[in-house]
Amino acid sequence: MTDRRGAIGGATTVVAVIGDPVGHSLSPVMHNAAFASAGRDWVMVAAPVAAGQGAAAVAAARTMGLAGLAVTMPHKADVVAAANHCSPTVERLGVANTVVLDAGGATAHTTDGDGLVDAMVAAGHDPAGASVLVVGAGGAARSIVEAMSRRGAGAMWVANRTIERAQQCAAVAVGGRPVVACGLDGMGDIATAVDIVVNTTSVGMAGTDGAGASPVPAGVLRADHVVVDIVYHPIRTPLLEAAVAAGAATVDGLAMLVYQAVRQQQLWTGESPAPEVMRAAALDALGTADR
Ligand code: ATR
Repeated sequence: MTDRRGAIGGATTVVAVIGDPVGHSLSPVMHNAAFASAGRDWVMVAAPVAAGQGAAAVAAARTMGLAGLAVTMPHKADVVAAANHCSPTVERLGVANTVVLDAGGATAHTTDGDGLVDAMVAAGHDPAGASVLVVGAGGAARSIVEAMSRRGAGAMWVANRTIERAQQCAAVAVGGRPVVACGLDGMGDIATAVDIVVNTTSVGMAGTDGAGASPVPAGVLRADHVVVDIVYHPIRTPLLEAAVAAGAATVDGLAMLVYQAVRQQQLWTGESPAPEVMRAAALDALGTADR
């Protein structure tokens, strides 16, 4: 059993991650490692909150003096309705993954898309000016398209199994440069032509029907591609394996997870945690977890 004597006291600042399910969330592992590494008297706990109770959880967290919330499924839209302030990106997307609680009330932010951009910049692959293919059009894709367009990405495509969702996703781009929505047919030609390929689907994720598969056709990746996968179980997905085999640069899903958490902690504490501390903690947890 973990010995926490002395680690949590009356003055400890508490933040929580809310979700359903939330037991496998890596947020507590990453945030608590960074709090400890910085000598910060803060702790994150995981709070299982049933669907439909996200707004109640925000109110309860305020009442109990928590400093903030990390928010995962199925509460990402509900917490926006419960907040008194929203970042411009949250207003655009209608979802949030972070709530800051202070004297001014509850402010909703989303760090997912910017987290991926930060991960790419940290790896030396700034999407500014680059052409991008985003595969998939769910919530993660919307955050990524919005953030990449705000960063100043060049031509962008969104390819999705369901074309209507691709169109809705393409519409969240800012900056006036149109994003082209398309189906998965013909995606190979687009992938060949762009600088950056980003998978936001669950294809390749262990434990799903798509395990062992790549969302991008074989043979389209080149050495001058940057290939990004937001799936992090396994960390080296079939798509990233194919990218490495082609000599391409890669950014893995754990990097996005880490950098979105870095931004969350910046929002709560005002200071930047060490990404490498968070990554090491997440890797450690993934290595030992039964999943
Ligand atoms: P998230 O919010 O995590 O992005 P989501 O909203 O469920 O999750 O989106 C999942 C994405 O993966 C969608 O783009 C989905 O395609 P559809 O919009 O057509 O459903 C895509 N996806 C899931 N399984 C897929 C598969 N086997 N092949 C291709 N795309 C798949």
